[in-house]
Amino acid sequence: MSEPNDPEKKPFLYVVVCACGIAGDVGKLITAAQGQHWDVGVIATPQALGFLDTEAIEAQTGYPLRSAWRTPGEARPLPPADAIAVAPATFNTVNKWAAGISDTLALGILCEAYGMGIPTAVLPYLNSAQAAHPAYHRSLDCLREMGVLIGSYEPHRPKAGGGADRFRWEEAVELLTPKLSA
Ligand SMILES: Cc1cc2nc3c(=O)[nH]c(=O)nc-3n(C[C@H](O)[C@H](O)[C@H](O)COP(=O)(O)O)c2cc1C
Repeated sequence: MSEPNDPEKKPFLYVVVCACGIAGDVGKLITAAQGQHWDVGVIATPQALGFLDTEAIEAQTGYPLRSAWRTPGEARPLPPADAIAVAPATFNTVNKWAAGISDTLALGILCEAYGMGIPTAVLPYLNSAQAAHPAYHRSLDCLREMGVLIGSYEPHRPKAGGGADRFRWEEAVELLTPKLSA
């Protein structure tokens, strides 16, 4: 963890985690980002909390795992984000984000990130039946137009065990690193 005004201050990455079967492996992304000299804070959707080991994430990042809004007057638990990775991103959160819905802390951060100019990458993880819904493609087009970088995961077949072995967590770091120096 770096102090403010520290000349060694590392860029700070928010990792937004949604409620996917693979969410519990988010430690892989934290490791990849820390290996590229990022500090990391994790924001989970309320639904994602059930998939995560809060203690392990807090131990790995050194920051509290956020999911709910802070109360007025409460200090900000995380430093401001230099970049945001949404991984894994659900069908639900992708569509709500593109539509400008802000009913979770995670979505609130994502909806504001566009106006704040914070580089953002999304790694959707969903099945091909979800991806076939016309709203999903509209949402991806909208996010692309907003400048969001989109991961390359091809949706898996429904009810066939998912595609965890093909999900490249580190792709979020690969997409965002060039944006920092841009
Ligand atoms: C065990 C389990 C695994 C799930 N995996 C996925 C998934 O991989 N992708 C997805 O889009 N939704 C998945 N869902 C459905 C989401 O959890 C559900 O749409 C939820 O409302 C998403 O909330 P969030 O977008 O706020 O995280 C899964 C649900 C369960 C119970």
